[in-house]
Amino acid sequence: MVEAAPIVSAQIIDGKAVARQIESEVAAAVERLGFAPGLVAVRVGNDPASEVYVRNKAKKAQELGLRGRELALPESTSEADLLAEVGRLNRDDSVDGILVQLPLPKQISAQKVIDAIAPAKDVDGFHPFNVGLLHLGRPALAPCTPAGVMRLIDSTGIRIEGANAVVIGRSDIVGKPMAALLLQRHATVTICHSRTRDLAAVIHQGDIVVAAVGKPLLVTAGMVKPGAVVIDVGMNRVDASFTDRLAHDSDKSRLLAKNGSVLVGDVDYARVRDVAGWITPVPGGVGPMTIAMLMQNTVTAAERRRA
Ligand code: GUN
Repeated sequence: MVEAAPIVSAQIIDGKAVARQIESEVAAAVERLGFAPGLVAVRVGNDPASEVYVRNKAKKAQELGLRGRELALPESTSEADLLAEVGRLNRDDSVDGILVQLPLPKQISAQKVIDAIAPAKDVDGFHPFNVGLLHLGRPALAPCTPAGVMRLIDSTGIRIEGANAVVIGRSDIVGKPMAALLLQRHATVTICHSRTRDLAAVIHQGDIVVAAVGKPLLVTAGMVKPGAVVIDVGMNRVDASFTDRLAHDSDKSRLLAKNGSVLVGDVDYARVRDVAGWITPVPGGVGPMTIAMLMQNTVTAAERRRA
């Protein structure tokens, strides 16, 4: 019998393994510091996803030797009360990093709250001062998800300098800072968004593609340049009926959540895998990196505040 030629598949970028590596670096840095940096994760209200994220952030901090704590405030918290709380944390010398989980209830302006966080403690890297430094290419507390994506790209060993990098999505949290970080490393960067003409043709130019739009399975195999590095930041929770669109994914059970919903990325992983050179899975790609980079930013903030 003649065996079928093997399909050459992308190398899978293991976000959990890279995150573990960063976490061990953070734990070592904490030991060197000789004190436990303090991180406070603030949550307002009871959004179930935010509850999980914030709890995990505080838990991971403790695991790595930081003083991590969750501050849970009621859904009815006023903007003035939250601003007052941020002010107290700014003045509290035992606090090195402050994070206010987004989204916030509608009576609170996220922009006002972000602007109120002391830039030196802004471990999310969302304050306009840190955003400015980042876009000037000066060392700053960079937003955790895009900083984590850079580490994943670096883990492939490809040369970023001179590469065509295509960022899909222009959010303040991911797309824009992602483009700034890639530019800092001398990539030729294109940012795509909802008004982009011929998205497929632009994506096809990418030696590096970062998908961060929140549209399930937007990036298909035909759009991707063979051999490209494809990073999927998407975390789209869709209902179980969506599995019809995943019929081609032989390993789709990984996507099923306990409540029957399905978690899919912005990339059609099962098909793009056969075209890309490297690819991140969802889950297990970018997700684990975000918390790891938050821990690293907290250590950086602690070191700088005491320098
Ligand atoms: N909500 C979704 N992502 C993030 C993040 O990185 N930081 C904060 N504070 N909230 C978020």
